[in-house]
Amino acid sequence: MHLRRAFLYTPGDDLRKVEKACTLRADCVCLDLEDAISASQKEDARLAVAHALGTFDFGKSERLVRVNAPSTPFYLPDLRIVVQAVPHAIVIPKVEDAATLQYVDGFLEAFETQSVLELGTIRLMAIIETARSFVNLKDICEATSRLDALVLGAEDLAVSLGARRTPSNQEMEYARSQLVMFAAAYGLDAIDLVCNTYHDTNVVQHEAQQGAQMGYSGKQVIHPNQIAVVQQAFSPTPQEVQRAQQIVNEYEERMQAGKGALGLEGKMVDMPVYRQAKQILEKAALIEVW
Ligand code: COA
Ligand code: MG
Repeated sequence: MHLRRAFLYTPGDDLRKVEKACTLRADCVCLDLEDAISASQKEDARLAVAHALGTFDFGKSERLVRVNAPSTPFYLPDLRIVVQAVPHAIVIPKVEDAATLQYVDGFLEAFETQSVLELGTIRLMAIIETARSFVNLKDICEATSRLDALVLGAEDLAVSLGARRTPSNQEMEYARSQLVMFAAAYGLDAIDLVCNTYHDTNVVQHEAQQGAQMGYSGKQVIHPNQIAVVQQAFSPTPQEVQRAQQIVNEYEERMQAGKGALGLEGKMVDMPVYRQAKQILEKAALIEVW
């Protein structure tokens, strides 16, 4: 299990922001070569990202790169340059079928073999952001064991659907539910949609709490303001940890005595409640050493 609560995008051509991103303690820092970069800057951004990955200290943050979409002429040059710096993962936008991931898997395998790296060192994350991506989700999840996470691209999905974005995200309900379901079915992390509002952190906080309730592992963020609130929303509170510990202690005691369900402060505790409590403790343990 990885901690992937705050997944921060930083434009790859802005080294001042990249330098700052390294100090913000986001769980993931994703240097962007795609939509934050204008066509005329693509080449410079690619070199800047390779330089930053190779020389900056990202601390505990995962070093990720979002390359350009597989259908663009920037994709292969992006892959060729960024793999040299061995990022933790490459984030592929607009993944619509299994073949796209199988191709990049083969590309990475060849690079790892040639560089004497363990196979599977460089991970993949797929942005699911077109209607076709959703229709092919099962195939995408099964494409390669290198896949670590599904990332929900709400803005592009809205374009693909002809949907109108609203503050309620109601139009994303189906996609948001489907993505987290498939991710869970295949043991992948699920990273929730971007909140474009970054000055008023109440908005991102509300969205992050919703995502955490649904089972998302984390949320894409675009501004330093959003990191702490998102991390908090995807972390159990001290009260939740305390209650989980109590449930685990008491339920294990019952099990040893050959007994089943019990009542705790007016609430029933049985096997699924015990398992939820174990999940909370597992996450809390990761956060403690973060
Ligand atoms: N990563 C790292 N640092 C960031 C940052 C980011 N995503 N967004 C802002 N910062 C830094 C700024 O450089 C500034 O630092 P400074 O005070 O040391 O100069 C500080 O945080 C405050 O930024 P602010 O002035 O409020 O924002 P801005 O006007 O500079 O930038 C955005 C606003 C939206 C352009 C910027 O947040 C951004 O680039 N976000 C990511 C965009 C992106 O990658 N999109 C594609 C994926 S959806
Ligand atoms: Mg997108």
